[in-house]
Amino acid sequence: MSDPDRPAEGPETAYRFSTTARRAVVALLAVAIGWAAWLWWDSRVPATYSVAPTHAGHGAQVGADGVDVVDLTADPDRPDDVRMRLEARSATLTNSNGGSFRGYTLNGSSPGPEIRAREGDMVEVALHNIDVADGTTLHWHGVDVPAAMDGVAGVTQDAVHPGGSFTYRFVAEDPGTYWYHAHQVSHEQVIGGLLGPLVIEPVAGTGQDTDADADADADATMLLHTYPGGSRTIAGVPEETRRDAAPGATIRVRAINTDNVTAQVWVAGADARLLAVDGTDLHEPGVVKNRRIRLAAGARADLAVTVPVDGAVRVQSPGVSLVLGPPDAVAPEAPSPAEELDLLTYGTPAVLPFDAGAPDRSYEYRIGQRVGFLDGRPGYWWTINGRMGRHVPMYTVNEGEVVAMRIVNRSPEVHPMHLHGHHVLVTARDGRPATGSPWWVDSLDVEAGESYDIVFLADNPGIWMDHCHNLPHAVEGLMTHVSYEGVTTPFLLGRGSGNEPE
Ligand code: C2O
Ligand code: CU
Repeated sequence: MSDPDRPAEGPETAYRFSTTARRAVVALLAVAIGWAAWLWWDSRVPATYSVAPTHAGHGAQVGADGVDVVDLTADPDRPDDVRMRLEARSATLTNSNGGSFRGYTLNGSSPGPEIRAREGDMVEVALHNIDVADGTTLHWHGVDVPAAMDGVAGVTQDAVHPGGSFTYRFVAEDPGTYWYHAHQVSHEQVIGGLLGPLVIEPVAGTGQDTDADADADADATMLLHTYPGGSRTIAGVPEETRRDAAPGATIRVRAINTDNVTAQVWVAGADARLLAVDGTDLHEPGVVKNRRIRLAAGARADLAVTVPVDGAVRVQSPGVSLVLGPPDAVAPEAPSPAEELDLLTYGTPAVLPFDAGAPDRSYEYRIGQRVGFLDGRPGYWWTINGRMGRHVPMYTVNEGEVVAMRIVNRSPEVHPMHLHGHHVLVTARDGRPATGSPWWVDSLDVEAGESYDIVFLADNPGIWMDHCHNLPHAVEGLMTHVSYEGVTTPFLLGRGSGNEPE
């Protein structure tokens, strides 16, 4: 049907219409392309750049009284109590499935040797890079070292290139379970094996106050790691690892999650107590029955496990287990308990070293995702407070301040959040206050949709990475810094710098 009052549309009208439409489309496209090009250009990192506030344009200007991060060291005149030399090499390693991969060793093995110190010891570790082509560093995960010793390439030092060395010195102040790993191209070097355990033993009568620790007859390190293409291992050993222990003995099992994803640990054949999280003892931890214990990527959990008088006990994690008992004693196996131990209510409260309810500063660390350009690469990247790459906020603090931070995860994945150089106290999850033992962490899983309130005392001047420990996420933008006002760094990041901490 046609409307007789309307002139029929001739070819000329159609032509005119489509010209206008085409012009509009072309104009829109031009704007879109221009905008995308600008975003791309803006996202590109210069050949070299500094993370320091003066250069990045955040925070206060550093005056003449500024402190260089390289000067934030341990007492140079104090003699060492523990001294070690670690040689980093690249190597072809064989994983548990028989496949080989290009990985790394420290003193010829992966994981590297366990470093043991006593509380208060001065520790000196000389890292020598034999042939790791990208360069390497060592970061002391969870240890509040002086800033110059933090091992972050481009922030606290330059990557150590083949033939070079760097000497780390710090006082082992807080007894507990820690680990060390490369912080240069860390998403490749850590999974590839450039890591090892670090244990700081308490001096009797100080520090660790749990009864179980006083009674612990021995300890056993359980370093969980998955090598490229392989299955899960305990210190490189798949499936079962055994350790001799007398019937009735109580062992402090030090579980360390060095993977990029969450680990679960549980005990079959005996009850257990969770003595410590991320190196800090819990206050009056109760018996854990039928609960699995979560370890965020990078996190540690110390468990007191008593060997039964007539058998052995098995500390399990998916695919691997650590059996403690006399040789040949049979240890039962159990499926992962359905319920997780909730640290928000585990243990009992204790006095805190600062007033967590009256912070001097409050920040938000909101994690999201967005399409855009990160260093010139288009993709779907992580955002912090809606920003990406060099535009993410840097959190400025002053020494002595109590700093509160709300971590909000508005993305569909879990993020194991890790702040360097500080222990942070968890005060609430989704607004629900923590009522158990003070819960100190350095690696905290924030699940999709969750929010955590944390508080820390700014008592360790420096420039500290604050990032996701699912290391590929850090590469994809989920990383920033907590920076003390007045602290500068002479080290540079960017393509031309040779430093690439993520
Ligand atoms: Cu375990 Cu930024 O590191
Ligand atoms: Cu993440």
